[in-house]
Amino acid sequence: MTAALSDTPNAMSRRRALSSLAVLSALGASWFSAPRAKAGPVQTRSSAEHAALIETLIGQMTIDEKAGQLNLLADPFRFRPYNVNPLDAFGDPARTTDLIRRGLCGALFNGVGAEAGRRIQRITVEETRLKIPMLFAADIIHGMTTVFPVPLAEASAFDEDLAYRTARVAALEGAVSGIHQAYAPMVDVARDQRWGRVVEGAGEDVLLNQRLAAARVRGFQGERGLADRDALLATPKHFVAYSAAQGGMEYNTTDMSEATLRGVFLPPFWSAIDAGALSVMSAFNDLNGVPTSGNRRMLTDVLRGEWDFKGFVVSDYTSERELIAHGFAEDGRDAARIALLAGVDMSMVSGLYLEHIPGLVASGDVPMARVDEAVRRVLATKAALGLFDDPYRGMDPERERVVRGAAAHYALAREAGAKSIVLLKNEGRVLPLRREGQKIALIGPFASDVDNVFGPWTIWGDEGHRVSLEAGFRAAMRRPEDLVVAQGCEVEAALSGGISAAVVAAAQSDVVVLALGESARFSGEAQSRVEITLPPAQQALAQAVAEIGKPMVVLLRNGRALELSGAVKDAAGIVVTWFLGSEMGNSVADVVFGTHSPSGRLPVSFPHRSGQQPFSYDHKTTGRPANPALASEEYTARYRETTNTALYPFGHGLTYGEVRYSAAVLSSDTLTWNGEIEASVAIQNAGTVPVVETVQLYIHDRVASLTQPGQRLRNYRKVAIAPGATTTVTFRLRRAVLEFVGETGAMTVEPGTFDLWLAPSAQVGTPTRFTLVR
Ligand code: BGC
Repeated sequence: MTAALSDTPNAMSRRRALSSLAVLSALGASWFSAPRAKAGPVQTRSSAEHAALIETLIGQMTIDEKAGQLNLLADPFRFRPYNVNPLDAFGDPARTTDLIRRGLCGALFNGVGAEAGRRIQRITVEETRLKIPMLFAADIIHGMTTVFPVPLAEASAFDEDLAYRTARVAALEGAVSGIHQAYAPMVDVARDQRWGRVVEGAGEDVLLNQRLAAARVRGFQGERGLADRDALLATPKHFVAYSAAQGGMEYNTTDMSEATLRGVFLPPFWSAIDAGALSVMSAFNDLNGVPTSGNRRMLTDVLRGEWDFKGFVVSDYTSERELIAHGFAEDGRDAARIALLAGVDMSMVSGLYLEHIPGLVASGDVPMARVDEAVRRVLATKAALGLFDDPYRGMDPERERVVRGAAAHYALAREAGAKSIVLLKNEGRVLPLRREGQKIALIGPFASDVDNVFGPWTIWGDEGHRVSLEAGFRAAMRRPEDLVVAQGCEVEAALSGGISAAVVAAAQSDVVVLALGESARFSGEAQSRVEITLPPAQQALAQAVAEIGKPMVVLLRNGRALELSGAVKDAAGIVVTWFLGSEMGNSVADVVFGTHSPSGRLPVSFPHRSGQQPFSYDHKTTGRPANPALASEEYTARYRETTNTALYPFGHGLTYGEVRYSAAVLSSDTLTWNGEIEASVAIQNAGTVPVVETVQLYIHDRVASLTQPGQRLRNYRKVAIAPGATTTVTFRLRRAVLEFVGETGAMTVEPGTFDLWLAPSAQVGTPTRFTLVR
């Protein structure tokens, strides 16, 4: 990791001037004398009073203090346990303490804990010249102490209410730990499963990303305003198109048309801001030749000009310094100038703003007005959070002990986990398993594992509360002794005697459950893969166990869509369990033993082969559309080895019921320009258990001035259907649902014919046709 400040002459001389005694006096036990956190929402001044206060402060600030408010520092080890004072971990705590005391550091991140927070806040409010409170930020991605399913998993629930509730609890646990800002949600639409950060978002579809972005922002920020002690400022990231990295390789360049940028990658950010997000993180990638952290068109023209965004933009970890490596800035001074003028208000970790803003203003390269604008945005956010009224807002060590990891939070984690599981295949109704009267062999590297239940991007999850599959299964079984467990292999390597022990276990059992997949380290930042397959050691284990001939269910643990092959692909049952967090084993057992009929749907398509990436269900038809029924048709858009469809498409997911769709019915086959029609479908549950079905509305614009995807999800709804019942689901359609981004970048609707599907997933069913007339 990069040091907090670059080793420039300025920084070095500043460092030499620091006294190592400073930190000792700063960290005395005097935090005890600080006022206790209030028990309810903090009282704020009126917005007019805040505005006046901010202008007074800006009038009083030196240029160094202004640069300081825009300077965000991190703990270089980054992932801090609770209440280890982040200042102790800065490599040079004296320097950091001195910067804080001199008003040269306005925000800190990834150091948490109410006690530590109070200690640092006391320095800003009692020892700095202008007493401007510190802003504390943290990477709270899918829970805090209580770990929820990874965002991609949770997206499978197609459930905004669930996303809202888990974000709310994460905010509760974060805010009580002294945090004000969450670096989440990640709203990057991810269409290349090689890219490791697919796991952090809502998958490949635009609409699902938009809805979940808004839900998560509302969940983090709560309903009572940002000044509420339980609210966290949300930070949609990474602005923008970061996920379009060429070749799926992390940090790679991105290059795309205006229509794709505005039609695919910008909408979730718009939804997040529309839902009230008051900060945005700029990204690492360059976009059409202009790095996004120096991209004035995106950060200022679009974000401010078109969208009227009022919050502040924070760079991603040193992304403004990376303008140099991009070949877009000469040196640190140039990088700071470009980023600031482009619209990055706060600099993360590089220290470039602190170092260069004074000189840039003195030379006239950056107008003071731009610095004041950035400072005003940061101070306005601190005011909105209530920090000028109660700098210790939320930081209550006693409440912290009660709130973090509360029983209700784990119950929510279990519910969210069960709702995130996707049943891909269930031949011969091998699932659900019986709680008794069946011997089960649980085999694989994830059978008893607890190190990979959280998944990537957790920092403060309670490692004492991680439910393995084995523990979940035993708790669910009436006769736990009917479970036999064998590891079989390591995640990526064979285990001496592993396969033979697994084969023995399988032979003694009535049914085999294979727990296979990726470890947490396979996905997340910088974890791009060339092939999205299972490691050979696991594939060999699956093959050997399958040969015993027992009914076999594969439980996949994964942070992306995978290519399935051989015995894994051929297993009677395939269940996508992702990384489900603290309660993983219980959530999986709830589904496997039938307490919860599976209801999750794939937010990413499972391709036939890795080489199909990038892939999304809503790809264009091309001039030579492939006909999957005629795989041998040579001169069409296909590969030698496979058609370009998905093995399991976006939206796919089975239940334990028997769901049957009738043909979609339209109230009219003509939609007038200002009119409305209804599209309905009758859905029957012919099975014996209740189900929750996710009905998906897809549309294809058959002829348009820009070619359109073969299908696009335009709406969806979840409905509960009792056994034997039939439910009719109706969607109203107005012309807005047919909008697309035209050649100029503006939203447009064109008259013409459209195909419509009401279906359980992409790629299935026969469309109904209607016409839009002007
Ligand atoms: C990631 C961001 C994260 C930041 C701070 C960066 O490497 O791209 O998503 O918020 O670090 O930890």
